[in-house]
Amino acid sequence: MAVGIFDSGLGGLTVLDAVQKRLPEVDFLYYGDNSHAPYGVRDAEDIFQLTQAAVHNMWDRGCDLVILACNTASAAALRRMQEAGVPQGKRVLGVFVPLIEALTEREWGDNSPPREVAVKHVALFATPATVASRAFQRELAFRAIGVDVEAQACGGVVDAIEDGDMILAEALVKSHVDALLRKMPKPEAAILGCTHYPLMEPVFQAALGADVQVFSQGRLVADSLAHYLDRRPQMLGTGAGGYVTTGNPARVSSRATQFLRREITFDAA
Ligand code: DGL
Repeated sequence: MAVGIFDSGLGGLTVLDAVQKRLPEVDFLYYGDNSHAPYGVRDAEDIFQLTQAAVHNMWDRGCDLVILACNTASAAALRRMQEAGVPQGKRVLGVFVPLIEALTEREWGDNSPPREVAVKHVALFATPATVASRAFQRELAFRAIGVDVEAQACGGVVDAIEDGDMILAEALVKSHVDALLRKMPKPEAAILGCTHYPLMEPVFQAALGADVQVFSQGRLVADSLAHYLDRRPQMLGTGAGGYVTTGNPARVSSRATQFLRREITFDAA
């Protein structure tokens, strides 16, 4: 049995780590499309084609449920894949909704009409493709009214993290936070809307200041997956867990080991 966790590269490991801690009895198959990362600078059609190919690969490996642990893929491909129809018994889910439910103080799956919420000024940090899609604002508008969202496309951060250049990643995060604060000087909350960014969470928090509540997806997605599997245990799937990549397995394993601080071994996808 295995649930699939997909990302363009290493970022989904921040989600994987959280779901493994929350659901230690569940096996996970992690698929990193590292040879095509970053997705965030690609156009929507390209992201859709790459995401669809990866998700089909994971379904074929016996994962009945695949989580797109990638905001860029969730923004550009999820709705289109779901609308086109998925094979019998298979599901694909994204990572936006748990985050927006937390931000708008909703219980899991609460689909009541939009209402006023405590936060009024929200900073969104995401890839250029996620920002361009406006998917976050759309999902938020279904649940909340009167929330001002200022989005900052954080060019370069994912490339730097994928290359293991954490000094560059840190400098870029600081300059993106500065740019955001020039547009919205006092956000109450900040969304790390890319699963790579939790790897830089202390840098975001320090640059934003202690008063800003930073939301990242790992634990929120883990809680929501636990609820989902409680209700639908048949979605645990039949395939084996593990780590696969379209990139160079030795290189990707070494970066993953560095990020999660435990031995991770990727095989070729
Ligand atoms: N980690 C991804 C996300 O959450 C993708 C980043 C990228 O490949 O540009 O958006």
